Amino acid sequence: MILILDLGGKYSNSLGKRIRQSKVYCEIVPYNHPIEEIKSKKPEGIIIVGESDKEFSDLNTDVFNLGIPVMAIGYGTRFIEEAFGGSSTKSLGNGYNFESVHVDRESPIFNGMKENLNMWMDMDCVFETIPEGFEKIAELGSNVVAIGKEDSKIYGVKFHPEVEGSTDGEYIIDNFLFKVCNCDKSWNLEEFIANSIEEIRRKVGQKKALCALSGGVDSSVAAVLVHKAIGDKLVCVFVDHGLLRKNEKEQVIDTFREKFHMNLIAVDAKVRFLSKLKGVTDPEEKRKIIGEEFIRVFEEEKNKLTDIDFLVQGTIYPDIIESGFDGNRVVKSHHNVGGLPEDMDFQLIEPLRQLFKDEVREVGRLLGISEEIVNRQPFPGPGLGVRVLGEVTEEKLEILREADHIFREEIDKANLKDKIWQYFAAIPDIRSVGVIDGERTYNYTIILRAVNSVDAMTATWARIPLEVLDKISKRITSEVPRVNRVVYDITDKPPATIEWE
Ligand code: XMP
Repeated sequence: MILILDLGGKYSNSLGKRIRQSKVYCEIVPYNHPIEEIKSKKPEGIIIVGESDKEFSDLNTDVFNLGIPVMAIGYGTRFIEEAFGGSSTKSLGNGYNFESVHVDRESPIFNGMKENLNMWMDMDCVFETIPEGFEKIAELGSNVVAIGKEDSKIYGVKFHPEVEGSTDGEYIIDNFLFKVCNCDKSWNLEEFIANSIEEIRRKVGQKKALCALSGGVDSSVAAVLVHKAIGDKLVCVFVDHGLLRKNEKEQVIDTFREKFHMNLIAVDAKVRFLSKLKGVTDPEEKRKIIGEEFIRVFEEEKNKLTDIDFLVQGTIYPDIIESGFDGNRVVKSHHNVGGLPEDMDFQLIEPLRQLFKDEVREVGRLLGISEEIVNRQPFPGPGLGVRVLGEVTEEKLEILREADHIFREEIDKANLKDKIWQYFAAIPDIRSVGVIDGERTYNYTIILRAVNSVDAMTATWARIPLEVLDKISKRITSEVPRVNRVVYDITDKPPATIEWE
């Protein structure tokens, strides 16, 4: 096992994924994780990584006294300076970029590499003086950008081998894992599944578990995994709030009830959601109403059941990392539809809490879940409630479902399905003038939104070929009644968000 100490920023996540791809288990903890706990996890190696301009006063340099190999990456090298002296300069002033770095191939971490590697790094920060006992192992021009202390297996690199595009970066990480730390390639998902099933079976015993199933990737995979372990002792509740896409409810019921023979309660709550939303136009208020109503429906279903001791949640590893390691998280408020109440008297089962998203998808595939579900795009908890702008009405929902269906169908036909990260239609709260067969119309507009993104924090609008857009527009205006105009959103995030509300 490799332990990543995280000084903030986005690098720990990609590093974690990279290590798991090399079939080594890893965990990410904050940089100031108690040293006793680090010790008790018995890692084969420690990697310190981060990106920050903050000065930390609580770097615990005891990590270098555990006799465990350490690699410090980027801002993580502050740990080495704190412990062993030396300093970094901020003189070059070029910010982050790919730079050609010359490495010493005698060092175990650069064994077998080319001599010159293109590496992602902060040019503002190179070693100025080398700490005592260390040797330089890579340079950028005349600047030192990596150092090593072979006798204690401590390395500091100013560049980021874990960033995609850094040449041979994966081999540098692999060298650290296998040549320096002697890790085994023992992390595999088949074994993870087998162990999880055993563990869930032991934990639940003869009791019962409940799962709020949304049909999204995480809750679907969690539910199927728990079902494999305890069968009919798992009860799933699927709430149809009337804000689902075309055919979505049927797909969920078909998958979980027909294919996996799961004990699934599908609650038709369309009418009560729509009546709560009547006349409401403020996006935040709509979200709140949908979230609260979801909880109410779920609680009512729960109260009809007896002897439920466990609640299954599709929490995944990034949810835990992103929630800030507070250590006492009960139920994530943004998880699933609306978020479940925090005062429910359940023990949690979170079988995916150690997995990254790609691993969750892979577990789903291994469990026999269809690509359609495993590869599903993100879908907001409040569903079409935030894609029908302004007041949510049955009429607008109906129009949106049809238009969204055509959009998705045409993207699929154009073989763009796997090339666009997220795409959907929205319907604004306006009508505009049009003309058909010489007659004036006053009808709805459909907005098409398609973006590419890695983590949803930023996004760029997708360059869908004009002829595909043309076809979608023509189909929507001719096949969906009461639509006379289609527009394509060409705004990135920021300044826009991906969803319109
Ligand atoms: P925004 O609109 O904030 O969306 O750029 C970022 C990503 O999050 C999805 N999204 C949600 N997901 N519950 C969710 O589970 C929500 O309430 C929610 N709102 C937005 C959105 O589809 C995009 O992928």
